[in-house]
Amino acid sequence: MEIKRLETARLILRPWTMEDAQDLYDYAKSPVVGPAAGWKPHESIEESRHILQNMFLPSQECWAMQFKGDGHVVGSIGLHEDGSREKGLPVRMLGYVMAERCWGQGLMQEGCREVLRYGFEETGLALISVYHFPFNDRSRRTIEALGFKKEGTRRMVCKLYDGTVVDEVSYSLTSAEFEEIYKKRG
Ligand SMILES: CC(C)(COP(=O)(O)OP(=O)(O)OC[C@H]1O[C@@H](n2cnc3c(N)ncnc32)[C@H](O)[C@@H]1OP(=O)(O)O)[C@@H](O)C(=O)NCCC(=O)NCCS
Repeated sequence: MEIKRLETARLILRPWTMEDAQDLYDYAKSPVVGPAAGWKPHESIEESRHILQNMFLPSQECWAMQFKGDGHVVGSIGLHEDGSREKGLPVRMLGYVMAERCWGQGLMQEGCREVLRYGFEETGLALISVYHFPFNDRSRRTIEALGFKKEGTRRMVCKLYDGTVVDEVSYSLTSAEFEEIYKKRG
């Protein structure tokens, strides 16, 4: 998938570069960011560089979320392969994280809306899925505000880096549902 430069009122969504390592480390070291999405906080800027180099840059699946207010990259939004669905279907899985200092301003909804639009309207996806752990109320609220339909809870889906086994709440949105919701909202 092409990580095309996208823009909203408050955000620039663009491909990651190695120059973003410091900004990535600044939010990824937080104990409340990664664990809510299932990954261990970064322990050093070298770890952030390694993840940029070996995951973000080659995968071509996620955008750096740059806040126009201060120019920093404050999060990421991705449209990933959905490992729970057959390969080759026009389906992607939405994933996102954001620096704690930016929570509570509607920024993630703003960025995700544009990524959903791009996924459906410009790349021809038919369905976008998204998942959260049952304890992640903030992510649940973001997902509901975006208009996703709840599919249910899958139990014992994975073991986290600290050994905890977790359930996952699953949602999806079709292209037709997206058009309907966003036509009404304008
Ligand atoms: C999940 C996460 C992105 C949600 O962040 P967020 O800022 O709450 O997300 P939203 O963009 O949906 O913002 C909604 C909040 O902004 C407020 N808000 C302020 N202005 C707003 C606006 N113009 N539009 C919408 N909401 C607005 C809402 O009231 C709401 O705040 P509240 O929950 O305190 O009432 C963030 O908590 C995070 O990165 N967590 C760690 C990683 C993670 O969990 N990733 C997801 C894994 S599934």
